[in-house]
Amino acid sequence: MGIPDIPVRLPHKALRSRLLFPYLLLLAVIFLYWRALGTHRIIELINSSSQVSRVDWNALEAGLNRCAELTAPPAQYSFPVPADRENPRWSALGGQSKPVLLRNATLFDGDLFQESVDIVFERGVIRTITTTSDASSIEGAIVQDLNGLVVTPGLVDMHSHHLVGGWPSFRATNDINEIHPSTGPLTPFVRALDSIKAYDPATTVIASGGVTSSLILPGSANIMGGEAVIVKNFLRAGDHGEENVEELLLEHGIPKDKRRRYMKMACGENPRRVYGHTRMGNAWILREHFARAKELRDKQDAWCLSAAAARERGDPAVISSLVAPGPDGHRGLPEELELDSTVGILRGQVGVNIHCYEPEDMEDMILHSEEFRFRIQAFHHSLSSWKIPELIKASGQNITVATFADFGLYKVEGYESNLRAGKILHEHGVPVAYKSDHVGEDTNAKYLLSQAATAHSFGLPELAALRSVTSVPAKSLGVDHRIGYARPGYDADLVIWDSHPLSVGATPLQVYIDGRPTLSTDKLQSAQSNPRSLEGPKIRPEPPKEANQLCSRIENSRNVLITGIRKSYLTLSQEKTSSEGLVVAINSGKITCLGRYDECVSTTSQNSNVIALQNGHILPGLTAFSTTLGLLEIPSEKSTSDGSVSPKVNPLDAENVVYAKYGIHPEGRAFDRARIGGVTRAVTAPIPDGFLSGVSVGIKTGLNKSILDGAIFQDDVALHFVVGQESKGPEQAPTVSTAVARLREILFENKGKDTIYGKAANGEVPVVVHSQNKHDILQLVKLKRDHGAVKLVIYGASEAPAVAKELAAADIPLIFTAAHGAPDTWEKKDALAGPPLTESPVKVLSEANVTFGLAFPPESDWHLHSLGIEASWAAKDAGLSPETAVNLVSRNIERILDIPVDEKSRDFVIYEGNPLQYGASVVLSVDGDDGSISTCWPESQ
Ligand SMILES: *[C@@H]1O[C@H](CO)[C@@H](O)[C@H](O)[C@H]1NC(C)=O
Ligand SMILES: *[C@@H]1O[C@H](CO)[C@@H](O)[C@H](O)[C@H]1NC(C)=O
Ligand SMILES: *[C@@H]1O[C@H](CO)[C@@H](O)[C@H](O)[C@H]1NC(C)=O
Ligand SMILES: *[C@@H]1O[C@H](CO)[C@@H](O)[C@H](O)[C@H]1NC(C)=O
Ligand SMILES: *[C@@H]1O[C@H](CO)[C@@H](O)[C@H](O)[C@H]1NC(C)=O
Repeated sequence: MGIPDIPVRLPHKALRSRLLFPYLLLLAVIFLYWRALGTHRIIELINSSSQVSRVDWNALEAGLNRCAELTAPPAQYSFPVPADRENPRWSALGGQSKPVLLRNATLFDGDLFQESVDIVFERGVIRTITTTSDASSIEGAIVQDLNGLVVTPGLVDMHSHHLVGGWPSFRATNDINEIHPSTGPLTPFVRALDSIKAYDPATTVIASGGVTSSLILPGSANIMGGEAVIVKNFLRAGDHGEENVEELLLEHGIPKDKRRRYMKMACGENPRRVYGHTRMGNAWILREHFARAKELRDKQDAWCLSAAAARERGDPAVISSLVAPGPDGHRGLPEELELDSTVGILRGQVGVNIHCYEPEDMEDMILHSEEFRFRIQAFHHSLSSWKIPELIKASGQNITVATFADFGLYKVEGYESNLRAGKILHEHGVPVAYKSDHVGEDTNAKYLLSQAATAHSFGLPELAALRSVTSVPAKSLGVDHRIGYARPGYDADLVIWDSHPLSVGATPLQVYIDGRPTLSTDKLQSAQSNPRSLEGPKIRPEPPKEANQLCSRIENSRNVLITGIRKSYLTLSQEKTSSEGLVVAINSGKITCLGRYDECVSTTSQNSNVIALQNGHILPGLTAFSTTLGLLEIPSEKSTSDGSVSPKVNPLDAENVVYAKYGIHPEGRAFDRARIGGVTRAVTAPIPDGFLSGVSVGIKTGLNKSILDGAIFQDDVALHFVVGQESKGPEQAPTVSTAVARLREILFENKGKDTIYGKAANGEVPVVVHSQNKHDILQLVKLKRDHGAVKLVIYGASEAPAVAKELAAADIPLIFTAAHGAPDTWEKKDALAGPPLTESPVKVLSEANVTFGLAFPPESDWHLHSLGIEASWAAKDAGLSPETAVNLVSRNIERILDIPVDEKSRDFVIYEGNPLQYGASVVLSVDGDDGSISTCWPESQ
């Protein structure tokens, strides 16, 4: 139903790529030639050449039909999309039944913002977007007055593994990677579709984060992993509300042979590890396979040309040779099911999406694409792409980089992850999309938008950040005629946000998929009467000129005066906020005055350095809790790790306890991230591999510290154990019940002894137990009831909200890691998914008066630059004050672990911007013990 003078745009940019052009010309010739011989001509021929058997004619005819299918260009769409388009997923029985009018929205339409618009959608399609006027009303419509709330298109995640995996994750339902000796590293012929379980509850969690469409891919174990498919994140959306895979598909309602196809490929570390080849071997395996596919494609094209010619000439001998059975008994057009997807890639009909991190791997893949003339739709993960944007661009293939904003450092290929990668790629004109890689809690696709927000805070412009999770992935996947935009004619996938989408903890108030609301309506109603500020968040500021060489200037001058402090979270001054700005006077690293200008200036000498801030904030240094910081640099590489206690030692023997203080290497990328997050101290426990972890150490994150000069602020902080699925191991504790019994034995049998176990039993050293499950947690409550002297602390505690009352009554504090946790394993199946689906877990804990601080889950040191944001987000979810947020990641952790800190000499950090919102930079971070400078502007990566 395109309007005639609108240029038709081919959805696969491949068709315009210089790589494919000559080939497509050939296809067009075949296609037109075939079309030119009309049906009547065939019948005429049949009549005139009676020597050709009916059987041969039918076979020839079938082959030629298949030629047409194989060579037909992918479906075309006209742009702009006509407003009267139908949504193929809509049905009269189960689809959106009444029109909806969203009145007075602030709309980000996938490209730009528009203020005060009315959005009307019906039958699952957006029909009109008009300027808000009092007059707008639609017969029979449900009207929601948004009073300026932001609406965006449903977010598009171009890399997810939900549905092919599943929550809670089980061995029995992990269908992500086809790893089998019989198929090996090339499995282009398997399909994610065949693994989908249309009941994975993660789908609903993901939708509640505003992510309405996801590309579901096979994993990255194989060089070619199989075909991917796009779903809408709406379970049981069909007419009968059943767990039906077909009804999840974006292209449900479109004939199966007309649907889009995508291939997942992988290079580098993963296939290398799984199959033991080198990069050379991987490249050969792939090229050899493409050569086979190319040969088949060429044979097919030759057959199609000869068949079309033979049909015209009606030569019985030629026809019968064309349809004669080949060596494999197959008649006619050569086809191999095993090569079908790869031939589809060579024909530009299957979009290529490649997991590829390293510069050399991306360069090599581009080389292969040129050799075999296929187009790469996107490089996924691609954490080093910021180093080679021009190389990627020079391919001429308009390759999208589908990446993580900050997830990284977990393996060698991710160690070059750069928080400003999005900004760099964007500045070079490389399209950037953010994606989840959803499997478990650490990749939860529900929080896709927070990646765009993080990237924005590190310099990706606002609109580019919003496009990176809407229109960019939709275009990259060639579905930008339906999703990724909120415009007339598009699927009515819309999200109403409670605040600016790039602000901390922006949460959907309502998510429409195909025009149907998926969340309860109460949230929206209360927000309508209570609108929030829509002010956009900021980008982390660059240092002003006078802050150049800040560190050396401060070191060379005893007195420094910093002005423009809008808010203080220190207890040193009465005044905490000031619109004119407080000033802080620092002498030799000690704060000598924090207050109004006239109060402080007299105490400062004339020649003091003045640093003028616009929106200064001063906070205590934050304290992180980690099982890896300083002990394990790259989790997948043993050579970067201190190691773990053997699972075979006897944990009852205190001699087997290890001490983190002897293993600390206080440097690395995670320390850089900690410093720019205002984290000045961390408690690191030994990395567990079973029940016994060891004794944690208190370390500082400041630059260039060593264990001889101040890297360690407290030798022994607490004694750590694990109780739960992670504690199961050969001898330490083969069962969870053994772990509980051994913990009891250690704490009951060592009272009064002068060993680390004795100190723990006497309550002189806190005992931190890493535990997640509510029943396991109740075992710890029981232990505490039986042995009140023990200072028991629980780390992790994902299911703690379910037993909050008992924890409060037993006075057991938590170092809680599930403020944004997920029910991704059986052990944590009752962890709260969080707003807008459930109550906030932090709210439940705080209302029950449980004492807790916040930390990230194990092996999340890559995230330390965001510790303040995490606390602020949790506080927003739970309705807590900014002061409480700061305490959750500083004072509470210290109190819970009995770390003595004098408020007068604690570490402090001065920021330009508000570190509880995105877009604040650390200006100066000072060690409270000796007044030394831990870090200063400009930020390191
Ligand atoms: C083909 O032959 C049949 C009978 O043999 C005849 O009925 C039919 O009209 C012929 N068709 C054409 C297109 O000549
Ligand atoms: C739309 O919402 C804005 C923001 O709340 C408000 O200022 C404006 O008056 C509203 N416009 C109409 C037409 O209701
Ligand atoms: C390149 O891809 C991006 C994202 O898919 C798209 O927005 C842009 O228009 C494309 N550019 C060209 C020249 O096709
Ligand atoms: C830290 O050490 C590096 C090199 O070892 C040096 O370049 C840098 O100036 C030092 N920084 C501070 C704050 O001491
Ligand atoms: C939590 O503490 C507050 C203040 O002490 C008290 O008012 C409230 O009743 C307590 N809540 C519970 C659930 O015990």
